[in-house]
Amino acid sequence: MSKVYVFDHPLIQHKLTYIRDKNTGTKEFRELVDEVATLMAFEITRDMPLEEIEVETPVTTAKSKVLSGKKLAIVPILRAGIGMVDGVLNLIPAAKVGHIGLYRDPETLKPVEYYAKLPADVEERDFIIVDPMLATGGSAVEAINSLKKRGAKHIKFMCLIAAPEGVEAIQKEHDDVDIYIAALDEKLNDHGYIIPGLGDAGDRLFGTK
Ligand code: PRP
Ligand code: URA
Repeated sequence: MSKVYVFDHPLIQHKLTYIRDKNTGTKEFRELVDEVATLMAFEITRDMPLEEIEVETPVTTAKSKVLSGKKLAIVPILRAGIGMVDGVLNLIPAAKVGHIGLYRDPETLKPVEYYAKLPADVEERDFIIVDPMLATGGSAVEAINSLKKRGAKHIKFMCLIAAPEGVEAIQKEHDDVDIYIAALDEKLNDHGYIIPGLGDAGDRLFGTK
């Protein structure tokens, strides 16, 4: 069963409140999403493997740890996932970035894939899929399908706000994928929007409504 981690760090919770606020404008919304993505990246990388090396300090030799060269890739689900990429890259600048384009059909709420481009060495990388919203879970499940179809073996899913329905969908279809969220909200409304949520993440990030 995939695990669900809710990042309850005070800085993440504080910033998420202003992300939710309908009076927060596009510029500030984008900056806050970027900052929260960096803070979440700090938490999600907690289990990165380390190895010990020897380093010369100005006074002696020390055994000390460095990351053991794990290959990472970040994959935003277009379009709103793009808003979280730079925040993650702030902490993991050497990560490769793939893209998966999906939109939800407004009638059926089913995801439709329109783009996919991943790093060539898919099988050797650990993937972090990023998207601000996990609502019905259709987009996340489809993005994970898309990565697995191309050979990805280790996948984490990171989002700002999840609905219980989305969490269940990932757990049902992909029980090897752990889920990292800043908040687990109450429910979905009839249009598939998360309640209380933050509205339409893409529109708020890019000012399209
Ligand atoms: C939003 C969001 C997720 C998806 C979540 O994207 O960014 O990708 O909805 O909903 P789901 O869990 O029910 O699939 P949207 O389809 O609105 O596309 P956009 O990013 O292009 O605006
Ligand atoms: N997509 C969004 O952007 N917001 C929601 O609340 C649900 C799906």
